[in-house]
Amino acid sequence: MSDKLRLGVLISGRGSNLQALIDACRELTFPAEIVIVISNTPDALGLERARHADIPCVVVNHKDYDHRAPFDSEMTRALDEAKVQLVCLAGFMRLLSETFVEYWRDRLINIHPSLLPAFKGLNVQSRVIEAGTRFSGCTVHYVRHEMDVGPIIAQAVVPVHNADDPDTLSTRILEQEHRIYPIVVRWIAENRVRIEGARVIVSGPGPPKEMLLNPTPK
Ligand code: GRF
Repeated sequence: MSDKLRLGVLISGRGSNLQALIDACRELTFPAEIVIVISNTPDALGLERARHADIPCVVVNHKDYDHRAPFDSEMTRALDEAKVQLVCLAGFMRLLSETFVEYWRDRLINIHPSLLPAFKGLNVQSRVIEAGTRFSGCTVHYVRHEMDVGPIIAQAVVPVHNADDPDTLSTRILEQEHRIYPIVVRWIAENRVRIEGARVIVSGPGPPKEMLLNPTPK
């Protein structure tokens, strides 16, 4: 077994963040590898991406379960069987039980397409546009039981333009998601991330400079 951090990625759909992780893991020096992809929907495009990359896939279809508890424990069983060390939610659209979140506490991260704690939940981009904020972005955070809550590891900022609709804004943000998710996984794999209460401290060389700057509007 290699000494790379073993990732399990949970998806429900398109899987573009999964693809960003697959691409990062292809680099020989990347300190993590995806050992399993789990989807709760059998026709998720992300499953195709995983199969194409020869990554073992499991479908745990929520429709086969009457309750959340057995659905979640089946996912934990599959993740444990694959000896997963870090679970990455990547567009996983089911709420997770407290038991699951506690079991994977501090080993479970999520990516959300807003600057948390603003704009939790769904339909984020149309709400951002309606609210008239000038900036938005994305957040990678540790998962706690409440939705879209948990210690923030990294964020990237993008401008919101007057002409934006949810699609254009989402595309701009997604580009940043694909950058920061692999960066965070690398930090965790390199043991550089420490949680102190609600805060996350990253030691060693910091994030790429561009991540901390307001983007210049074009
Ligand atoms: C992303 O915007 C992610 O932030 C959110 O769900 C979307 C998933 O997109 N949690 P994809 O499936 O990774 O393309």
